[in-house]
Amino acid sequence: MLHVVLSLLLVVPGMMGNTVGYLGKSVNLSSESNSTLKIIKIEWSIFSNPTWIATYKDNVINTNRLQQFENRLRLNSSTGDLEIRDLKKTDEMEYSVLIKYDTETQHNNKVKLIVTGKDINYNHYSY
Ligand SMILES: *[C@@H]1O[C@H](CO)[C@@H](O)[C@H](O)[C@H]1NC(C)=O
Ligand SMILES: *[C@@H]1O[C@H](CO)[C@@H](O)[C@H](O)[C@H]1NC(C)=O
Ligand SMILES: *[C@@H]1O[C@H](CO)[C@@H](O)[C@H](O)[C@H]1NC(C)=O
Repeated sequence: MLHVVLSLLLVVPGMMGNTVGYLGKSVNLSSESNSTLKIIKIEWSIFSNPTWIATYKDNVINTNRLQQFENRLRLNSSTGDLEIRDLKKTDEMEYSVLIKYDTETQHNNKVKLIVTGKDINYNHYSY
């Protein structure tokens, strides 16, 4: 089911608020946090049973929580944005972020990342 959905999304990358990245390049996943508030905690995760991939807590950034993303993540602790470098096809999935501000309010965002590469048939774009 998820595979079918992702295949459909591949045909129309960039639509429905998806983020598009290119194989071997970098991409920024936006937390869409409120820039006027100070962030004290960030948790980026994947899957519905959350697996943390990057966190910021007590002023400590941890971006090496999962081997799949080892040395490829950079977390911006002031914006909550997550940069993924050297993109792989297996990075194509849905990411969630939970932001906690010093006002004790929270913010959630989900980002669907689409990874495209040289092998994409560009005829799919015009229809
Ligand atoms: C991602 O954002 C950082 C700033 O947080 C910037 O330095 C970097 O160039 C951005 N990367 C891409 C691929 O836009
Ligand atoms: C950001 O936070 C400020 C202060 O709480 C609030 O006034 C403003 O409406 C928020 N902006 C957005 C886009 O949520
Ligand atoms: C975080 O993002 C902001 C806004 O894009 C940028 O000014 C700042 O340099 C970034 N910080 C890091 C550590 O990349």
